[in-house]
Amino acid sequence: MRLPDPQYAEDVSLERAIRGRRTIRSYGGKALSLRQVSQLLWSAQGITEPGGLKRAAPSAGALYPMDIYAVVGAGCVEGLDAGIYHYKPEDHTISPLRQGDIRRDVADACLWQTWMAQAPLNLVITSEYGRITGKYGQRGIRYAMIEAGHIGQNIFLQAQALGLAAGIVGAFDDEKLIRVIGITKTHEPLLVMPVGYER
Ligand SMILES: Cc1cc2nc3c(=O)[nH]c(=O)nc-3n(C[C@H](O)[C@H](O)[C@H](O)COP(=O)(O)O)c2cc1C
Repeated sequence: MRLPDPQYAEDVSLERAIRGRRTIRSYGGKALSLRQVSQLLWSAQGITEPGGLKRAAPSAGALYPMDIYAVVGAGCVEGLDAGIYHYKPEDHTISPLRQGDIRRDVADACLWQTWMAQAPLNLVITSEYGRITGKYGQRGIRYAMIEAGHIGQNIFLQAQALGLAAGIVGAFDDEKLIRVIGITKTHEPLLVMPVGYER
């Protein structure tokens, strides 16, 4: 599914977004629009040069070892069924990976952080180290983890600019989360970021 084109004109200044950013652990039930989801995914890994490959977050050697998966709850995003979607930056599309509302399973895999299941959207950031260790060896793993941090901050600030709130979660059972999302074991989850309206 092609996502709405990203917009570049929110009224919130960068400084306000940085000042306002907090890890939020309480979300209301209000659904997100597809445009908001599009914008969040674009801020995480969107292509930011016309006709080029370079993305919203920096990547060592421009090798882009990261993937973003959107976990959407039932009735939580206008125009999207509950399920897990994979984001493809090259054409700014998402494709379904699994159906159903699995937010509780995700929260359980994150050491029973049940607050995460309230968020309409959870963005899972994974890395496939093989895409970067070919060039950088073991050091590529460090680079991928640093890249995850950049992506996470972009999501935080984009959420702020959209009037949304986000959280960040690094405490999870890797194997369990991989199983719940249904990705291959070559992808290591590094962060999960719940996003929604703050309650
Ligand atoms: C790598 C990383 C992992 C984190 N993991 C969790 C987590 O599993 N659960 C949680 O509630 N907060 C988690 N946090 C959020 C921190 O607790 C939070 O950033 C810190 O308390 C500072 O608050 P602030 O983000 O609101 O400024 C994590 C933060 C980072 C950077």
